[in-house]
Amino acid sequence: MTLSPLKWWQSGIIYQIYPRSFQDSGHDGVGDLKGVTSRLGYLESLGVTAIWFSPIFTSPMKDFGYDVADYKNIDPLFGSLEDFDELIREAHGRGLKVMLDFVPNHSSDEHEWFKEARSSRDNPKRDWYMWRDPASDGGLPNNWKSFFGGDAWTFDQHTGQYYLHQFVSGQPELNWANPEVRQEMAETLRFWMRRGVDGFRVDVFWLLAKDPEYRDEPRNPEWRPGQPEHNSLLHIYTQDLLVTHEYVAEMRSALDEFEDRMMVGEIYLPVDKLLTYAGTPEAPECHMPFNFHLILTPWNAADVRKLVDEYDAAVNASGSWPNWVLGNHDQHRFATRVGKGQYRVAQTLLLTLRGTPTVYYGDEIGMEDGYIPPSRVVDPAALGQPGVAAAGRDPERTPMQWDATPHAGFTDRGAEPWLPVAENFTAVNVAAQENDQGSDLNYFRALTRLRQGSEALTAGSYRSLDTGTGVPMQQGATALTGGSFQNVRPGTGVFGFVRGAGEERVLVLLNFGTEDVALNLPELHGAALLLSSHGGDSMNSGRAEVLRGNEAQIWRVG
Ligand code: NOJ
Repeated sequence: MTLSPLKWWQSGIIYQIYPRSFQDSGHDGVGDLKGVTSRLGYLESLGVTAIWFSPIFTSPMKDFGYDVADYKNIDPLFGSLEDFDELIREAHGRGLKVMLDFVPNHSSDEHEWFKEARSSRDNPKRDWYMWRDPASDGGLPNNWKSFFGGDAWTFDQHTGQYYLHQFVSGQPELNWANPEVRQEMAETLRFWMRRGVDGFRVDVFWLLAKDPEYRDEPRNPEWRPGQPEHNSLLHIYTQDLLVTHEYVAEMRSALDEFEDRMMVGEIYLPVDKLLTYAGTPEAPECHMPFNFHLILTPWNAADVRKLVDEYDAAVNASGSWPNWVLGNHDQHRFATRVGKGQYRVAQTLLLTLRGTPTVYYGDEIGMEDGYIPPSRVVDPAALGQPGVAAAGRDPERTPMQWDATPHAGFTDRGAEPWLPVAENFTAVNVAAQENDQGSDLNYFRALTRLRQGSEALTAGSYRSLDTGTGVPMQQGATALTGGSFQNVRPGTGVFGFVRGAGEERVLVLLNFGTEDVALNLPELHGAALLLSSHGGDSMNSGRAEVLRGNEAQIWRVG
């Protein structure tokens, strides 16, 4: 089959590796590049297209690599530039693209630039960061808050000014209004592209610009104690400022100097605002603004359908390319969020929707949030916000579960993993699932195979089906308002959609509920079941099909 002439980042699947947690080869309990290289065969077997590494640059690790002390080098914890070159060579040899995490909004306070900047007020690098005098009463320059708790300002005794940081104080904000900063950042992108890097995930893209007048942000009337303090303000002066688009466009120009490179931007905004970061076909900006809305939407058929319909329509209208995410290193594992029962429904959704899927390491085997005892908590977001229950990100960053040996095969018996391995590793691991045809791992592979081999699933259009609202069959009702599904519990329900390209049409049915549902869909007439999350055949007979509780089915429509 000839697939449409899509770019690799459109037809492909992105797989995120959190390098500290994937595979340790250095006996120190922290994952590294050689470890990843040794697992490339596994990654290839997953049927993914690209691997994205969370930051691997030189860093004091105050935010585990999102505090960069040298943008053009690899932290010794992870290896060396030579190890990286080898990794790229080997990955490319297997047809895998390589993406880096680019962190342009802030550096580490241990970066040479910041050391220079804080050395004196008239240092040439001073204006590379954001400095303010104390307020007239000697207090903070304004009311801006850090995402990780507390104020966004730290006082520098030596020069008598505050510097801005929206994360930990070891992450001073770079001044994107300064053209030298922008040029240096573009040069950094070129440095890695010359080394063969295929693309970038860009950290906090929508935060790059700040109000030049540094005005106080208004209070958020909906904020309640116990919620992150950062949410107590409405971020009209620190987020999504218009000039950000100019910065994104400049970055895009640097990427376009090279062939076939891309960037995907971390942007948490409503769909309409999010899509403005793609630019227009005439003036493109970010190839894909990350769409995190599946993570943020209540898990039921009606809400998810509404989201997908609206996003798909908005993407079409904007002429951009869609993408979907279920998990990453900042969000609780989706198997934990939606529950084990719904795990395959969610995985099927991600891998059959129109748009590039991004998969978080370990989600292919159903890894869940790990338990982190208080003495092992290391995430600055958790440590800085002890009163906010959900703030910690350590649970979703636990070591990859390779096998049932001590430390799950992630590191040596003698080494202590930097985070504890999740307790379920003896049952949930790659080795146990490898040879089990019915495992989550092999279900994932079946999904990627199906997607990669289908023009309809990779490139085709999307149309949702009208599910209507029904009532459980046990209560004797069979009537449907939408005419298609029976036995639908409000708040759960069935989400069905058709993907189509040319003659090929693929129907996806997802039961968000735990009860069996009888279907009477015209689309199922003469259809052939391609895959069921429950394995084996569907319990179908004629046109009346049964979608079992928590089942996902994929059909080729005749
Ligand atoms: C977003 C990243 O995803 C997160 O992990 C990090 O802590 C902040 N940006 C700061 O770089």
